[in-house]
Amino acid sequence: MVPKPFHDRDGDIWYNGVFVPWREANLHVLSHGLHYASCVFEGIRVYNGSVYALTEHSARLVQSAELMGFTLPYGVGELDAATQATVARQGIRDGYVRPVAWRGSEMMGVSAQQNAIHVAIAVWEWPSYFSPEARMAGIRLQTATWRRPSPECAPTQAKAAGLYMICTLSKHAAEAAGCHDALMLDYRGLIAEATGANVFLVIDGKLHTPIPDCFLDGITRRSIINLAKRRGLEVIERAIPPDDLRLADEVFLTGSAAEVTPVGQIDALHFTPGQISRTLMEDYDALVRNVPSQAAA
Ligand SMILES: Cc1ncc(COP(=O)(O)O)c(C=O)c1O
Repeated sequence: MVPKPFHDRDGDIWYNGVFVPWREANLHVLSHGLHYASCVFEGIRVYNGSVYALTEHSARLVQSAELMGFTLPYGVGELDAATQATVARQGIRDGYVRPVAWRGSEMMGVSAQQNAIHVAIAVWEWPSYFSPEARMAGIRLQTATWRRPSPECAPTQAKAAGLYMICTLSKHAAEAAGCHDALMLDYRGLIAEATGANVFLVIDGKLHTPIPDCFLDGITRRSIINLAKRRGLEVIERAIPPDDLRLADEVFLTGSAAEVTPVGQIDALHFTPGQISRTLMEDYDALVRNVPSQAAA
């Protein structure tokens, strides 16, 4: 079934401080954000009507814009309030929030000092990124041919639209090969992340995850590191060459959309999602829903 397109839905979108009907939340085709990728965004989950880690996401949106050389006309508190108001207005219990900010159409060229900064927040019903069956089996990844750029080549700490160009190419290639997602290496050939999620390896009962020096230090990644430490697990952040995948007993992805998603295969290597992935999946689920964990203590 083809899902209902995103431009043709009911409800309202918060747009530059006011609610506008969903189908009228448009921008001009000569917007700088569209032509030159001067656009930043967030992806946030709503669980039981409550927005998880809202202020961290609002702060990252503000910071991403600063890294792209523009200042949002709204502060973190105003973005938090606007998000809460949009979730309430749409009556969403379990969903996804997409705040987005972009440069408008006052100047159309590489320079854009005079362009107005626009901000919109849309919220929709969205239970799970990967289906529960795929999650239990572990998803399949294909190593991408594109690599995450060095911090000298792009503002890699920004959640900026331009950085997703190679993610879409990589995800399309992976899906064409029958996989769910791509594993991206960085400019040095080290393991970086998936196209929209961070990655963890379990080696001899310890968590290993790449140092986020050229990709997003995900809010979920940080939550998982805290949950793992609370379980007494050692967490090692280090440079991880792809050969180390051979040492891994379990591999999983983390992200606001992906939550904790076990990986069953990367190229020719197979992994069996195990107890550590399951425990952290359940602990994360309990954290975001603010309920006790189902995982064994
Ligand atoms: C490229 C990329 N890496 C990592 C993440 C994970 O970040 P977070 O856990 O803050 O959602 C995301 C999701 O936003 C992403 O798009």
